Amino acid sequence: MLTRQQKWDQRYQNKDLRPRACSLLEQFQHYLPATGLALDLACGLGGNAILLAKKGLTVSAWDFSQQAINRLDANIAQDTLPIETKVVELFQQPPLENSFDVIVVSYFLAGPIFNQVKQALKPNGILFYQSHNLDSSSHGGPKNPQFLLKDQQLFEQFKEFSVLESFERPQHCPGKPGQSGIIVKNL
Ligand SMILES: C[S@@+](CC[C@H](N)C(=O)[O-])C[C@H]1O[C@@H](n2cnc3c(N)ncnc32)[C@H](O)[C@@H]1O
Repeated sequence: MLTRQQKWDQRYQNKDLRPRACSLLEQFQHYLPATGLALDLACGLGGNAILLAKKGLTVSAWDFSQQAINRLDANIAQDTLPIETKVVELFQQPPLENSFDVIVVSYFLAGPIFNQVKQALKPNGILFYQSHNLDSSSHGGPKNPQFLLKDQQLFEQFKEFSVLESFERPQHCPGKPGQSGIIVKNL
């Protein structure tokens, strides 16, 4: 039987999959600082990382899929982007406290490491979070509630931060029915 990591590796062998930034980051990139350290957490093919690097940030892109990271590395080499990749099991090695000015999480439920992700944000740091919610299956997304955001979950999770944008049911992320999102600033 394949491990979760091996399943993702297998999935990333599909050459039709291309890196794409999430719609929240695409649409609200004006919140990004001009410089600083950014993390694309559970980056997959690194669509967010690529956008962040092109906007002038120095980027770390972490994922446990060696296959995804190999593909991202090939992209970085081609475009000479300031992105440092790492193959890492995030639940065992979450980001360190006070280490990033920007963190982007898309389509990954941080669950047990939510607090570490929050603490990894520097003062004045900005965090973008977008993922599928309980409406997801009606819009062709995943069905397993284990991987879906509950109502108000993001809002609750980040309540001590300043909320810049928030999309909760029945409102949805820009262009993405069945998805919730939040952009917060660490004060
Ligand atoms: C749905 S994909 C999202 C990828 C990317 N953020 C995007 O928006 O395209 C989920 C990613 O999380 C990674 N992942 C899942 N569990 C992980 C873990 N425990 N540690 C590190 N990466 C993990 C998978 O390899 C996969 O690339």
